[in-house]
Amino acid sequence: MTGRVAGKVALVTGGASGLGAESGRRLAREGASVVLTDLAAEAGQAVADEILAAGGTAMFLVHDVTDEARWAEVVTATTARFGRLDVLVNSAGISGGEPLLEATLEGWRRVTGVNLDGTFLGVRHAAPVMAEAGRGSIINLSSILGKVGFPGAAAYCASKGGVALFTKAAALELAAAGVRVNSVHPGFIETPMVVNAFRESESENEMRDMVISRHAMGRLGVPREIADAIVFLASDESSFMTGSELVIDGGYTAA
Ligand SMILES: NC(=O)c1ccc[n+]([C@@H]2O[C@H](COP(=O)([O-])OP(=O)(O)OC[C@H]3O[C@@H](n4cnc5c(N)ncnc54)[C@H](O)[C@@H]3O)[C@@H](O)[C@H]2O)c1
Repeated sequence: MTGRVAGKVALVTGGASGLGAESGRRLAREGASVVLTDLAAEAGQAVADEILAAGGTAMFLVHDVTDEARWAEVVTATTARFGRLDVLVNSAGISGGEPLLEATLEGWRRVTGVNLDGTFLGVRHAAPVMAEAGRGSIINLSSILGKVGFPGAAAYCASKGGVALFTKAAALELAAAGVRVNSVHPGFIETPMVVNAFRESESENEMRDMVISRHAMGRLGVPREIADAIVFLASDESSFMTGSELVIDGGYTAA
């Protein structure tokens, strides 16, 4: 078996789209068996089929990351099929920006429920299996908006800031068991989440130009640029990294 994550089993939430889908493809290409999960059944199965057609190993499961009982089933189904669980990528997430002066508790809970509670549940259910085996790598998708604010995105920023600090606390608690936990902080990456947010804004082009101008490199990122970093964190190349924040943002937070 060859590849940077050969022989590992990786569970990727939000695997039907964007960064989750690309991470699944790249992990599979580097030798991992990949379990993709998502609410979106058709799109998720299509990514799994694509990986299989390319000679990789993958399966897709319908999964709402806010549903704790389903988390237990997904982890059990993964170990039943592949015998182990080495990597968890918590990529499922939603944006759902609301101006703060009009924001509702319901909207706040929807965003924090998926982004923060969903990440907690993933760690809560995957970490015991990893600790039992004495190894594992958990990769939580935070954001640059878990480090700096953005108008109209208070709940999102709070959820992603929460993911960053939750990651550090989990890393400290799980280090002795051989489980590493790191967060990834992308700038704005060209995925359906970002493209749809531009479309839903008052002026799509103005919004896009404004966002691009905040990245020193003068462009948006592409999913591969995040997925490659996720493969690195999943692999033993990052064996001395835990509790770290990996910022990949074209210089957005350098200013
Ligand atoms: N794209 C960016 O610029 C960017 C930047 C920083 C961080 N992120 C984070 O990266 C992650 C992936 O974002 P993306 O850009 O690929 O978005 P995306 O919208 O393309 O994909 C997100 C996926 O999550 C799934 N999902 C949503 N709610 C879910 C739930 N309750 N249970 C299971 N699946 C659910 C969606 O169906 C979708 O397939 C998110 O956590 C996002 O916040 C993205």
